[in-house]
Amino acid sequence: MITETIYSKLQEKLAHVVPAVELRQKAEVAEEVLALKAERNAVILAHNYMEPALFYSVPDYVGDSLELSRKAAACEQEVLVFCGVRFMAETAKILSPAKTVLLPAKKAGCSLAASITAEDVRQLKAQFPGVPVVTYVNTYADVKAESDVCCTSSNAAAVVESFGTDTVIFLPDEYLARNTARETGKHIIFPTRRPQARYDTELDYQLIGWHGRCEVHEQFTVEDIENARRQFPAVRVLAHPECSPEVVDAADYSGSTTAMVNYVKNHPAAQYLILTECAMGDNIAAENPDKEMLRLCSIRCPHMNEITLEDTREALRRNRYVIEVPEDIRQRAYRAVKRMIEINAKD
Ligand code: 13P
Ligand code: SF4
Repeated sequence: MITETIYSKLQEKLAHVVPAVELRQKAEVAEEVLALKAERNAVILAHNYMEPALFYSVPDYVGDSLELSRKAAACEQEVLVFCGVRFMAETAKILSPAKTVLLPAKKAGCSLAASITAEDVRQLKAQFPGVPVVTYVNTYADVKAESDVCCTSSNAAAVVESFGTDTVIFLPDEYLARNTARETGKHIIFPTRRPQARYDTELDYQLIGWHGRCEVHEQFTVEDIENARRQFPAVRVLAHPECSPEVVDAADYSGSTTAMVNYVKNHPAAQYLILTECAMGDNIAAENPDKEMLRLCSIRCPHMNEITLEDTREALRRNRYVIEVPEDIRQRAYRAVKRMIEINAKD
């Protein structure tokens, strides 16, 4: 009976996105997840990139990185299941140390988080003493612990401007740094790893960046946009700020995953090209049946794709995979993350 209710709900949303046979199987799994969630007094947070059947069945909250961090800090349940990647689950643990935080897939990493270490940040701080350090939330806890504040794609410019200083270290996403530099009117420089290297100290305001890249967003090109516009002249193009500045320039809009969701909801155009993880295009299509989503699904985030409804059930059933952050690191990372969730987007 409950399965039927979930199935009907999924059908209503996803009939034109996911085949009925799969929806029926997913409804059965979702029923088990909901029962386990109640039994364990758990809350489920899910990123906008989750597969449609998961996204529309079991989460208590869905959203972008900033929204989910705020929810993680505020929710009262004892167990928090994070349907997203490891750095997101770690951020939840940093904010809510007394809770059991579960990540449904053991690996679920992120190329940006893997691009920088805490030692890299310590070296940069030694090279640029006194310069505030902003790190993207897509980093691991020990890197956050070395930072003054974290940011997400939705509040990066506001976080940089919150210091009121001429120079800010901004790590590790090269493209987000370039896009944020343009938004805040700063020059950008990239130090080499050689400690004796010289930097352009003549510049009076600058972002000091790092060469991390998102393995998904770095693949979108201006040519992709031009091809789409040739075939679909009225298409609106949306690009996540982890895309290159050239791609962001060629797009009609750039914003966090939730900002893109809201853009489609509120814009009258009939057709959109969504340059981000493909599953989010499915989720937006489900919400906007009168609008058409074009997406480049040959480019997927292998990490986000590790999280399924079945894995979520196993996470609750077997209490896995428990996220731990050493307390000394957590306390230092907490300051940076707490400050991040207090800063809203600029507009
Ligand atoms: P958002 O903060 O915009 O949700 O982005 C997270 C992410 O990992 C994008 O690839
Ligand atoms: Fe990391 Fe890119 Fe995947 Fe987002 S899409 S989790 S930035 S690898």
